Amino acid sequence: MAKLTVSDLDVKGKKVLMRVDFNVPIKDGVIGNDNRIVAALPTIKYVIENGGKAILLSHLGRVKKEEDKPGLSMRPVAERLSNLLNKPVTFVPTTEGKQLEDAIDGLNDGDVLVMENTRYEDVKDGEYVKRESGNDPELGKYWASLGDVFVNDAFGTAHRSHASNVGIASNMAQTAAGFLMEKEITFIGGAVDNPEHPFVAILGGAKVSDKIGVIDNLLAKADKILIGGGMTYTFYAAKGMKIGNSLVESDKIDLAKEILDKAGDKLVLPVDSIVAEKFDNDVAHKTVEGDIPDGYMALDIGPKSVAEFEDVLKDAKTVVWNGPMGVFEMSNYAEGTLEIGKFLGTLKDAKTIVGGGDSTAAVQQLGVADQLSHISTGGGASLEYLEGKTLPGIAAISDK
Ligand code: 3PG
Repeated sequence: MAKLTVSDLDVKGKKVLMRVDFNVPIKDGVIGNDNRIVAALPTIKYVIENGGKAILLSHLGRVKKEEDKPGLSMRPVAERLSNLLNKPVTFVPTTEGKQLEDAIDGLNDGDVLVMENTRYEDVKDGEYVKRESGNDPELGKYWASLGDVFVNDAFGTAHRSHASNVGIASNMAQTAAGFLMEKEITFIGGAVDNPEHPFVAILGGAKVSDKIGVIDNLLAKADKILIGGGMTYTFYAAKGMKIGNSLVESDKIDLAKEILDKAGDKLVLPVDSIVAEKFDNDVAHKTVEGDIPDGYMALDIGPKSVAEFEDVLKDAKTVVWNGPMGVFEMSNYAEGTLEIGKFLGTLKDAKTIVGGGDSTAAVQQLGVADQLSHISTGGGASLEYLEGKTLPGIAAISDK
């Protein structure tokens, strides 16, 4: 059933609690990538343009001891949000108490407030008590008491059952999805539950173990699964091929065999690889077909594999891509990932959905992100969604 969304709510004059995922990379107070803040802007703007008071909650990093707190303050995030909205944003450096309650009482319609990192609640008086990440019932109830309505736009956190998402929701009459959450559900949920065929999944990354749940779930739904990245060579080993010094998960070879048996020709492995003698961008490298020679390690898929993958992709109506095809951070082994990203940008009749850090970085670097249907803001959340798991943050949103 469709979920209630923020546009179903009357927000005028209301204190609108909004869970966002502003867990952005941050170092010495400097934000590395503000994608997640930008992705939440449509919902925040909708609330304030319709006369609501937006009260934003998010976690940032993992707070396990007092010393973690100063480096994980939401203050720089609130400042960036203020720049992006081009209006003042009130930052409250606490997560409970009079200062926060007074600041909320002082809001006018259309104002925005950001409270301190919800995970500050995980450490009290030096003790790791996990009030937020353990979904302490009193904390969820307290935060819920600060607002009139609750909007959850934090897809990136949807795989967590924490006080600031599930806890608040269980203390509100209704919880609505924000527009970002709605989009993630439409695209990733849509691909998993009701894909238009041919449905092709492209799965990369270093380890079979990270993607086994996704492969298992998508084998039943996708028409083809294209495999790239380091995990290829565990599959090569399972087929009895030579892998040289390539990455391999020895304890997953039997599992890879089982997957290959089950998958038949649904699973497509690269036919060639870019290999080098060292894990180094600046050493000689070459393309080899099939077996990886002794003394070499495979660091990217080769041009024949790219062409074969493109041939499968060209007729697809739904494409989900998660994980790089090679060592994307090294320029000499980034080609496979970049070529796949470029090709996805040319698919005009397909729903194209990208998740995961390197695949997302590739389409952004190529400038094709705008030509794709959806770039997920979830890391763990999008993987668990693709695995077919129920995400507690989504389950806690009211049905329409
Ligand atoms: C993420 O970045 O995947 C989410 O914000 C969740 O963060 P967490 O893994 O620390 O719960």
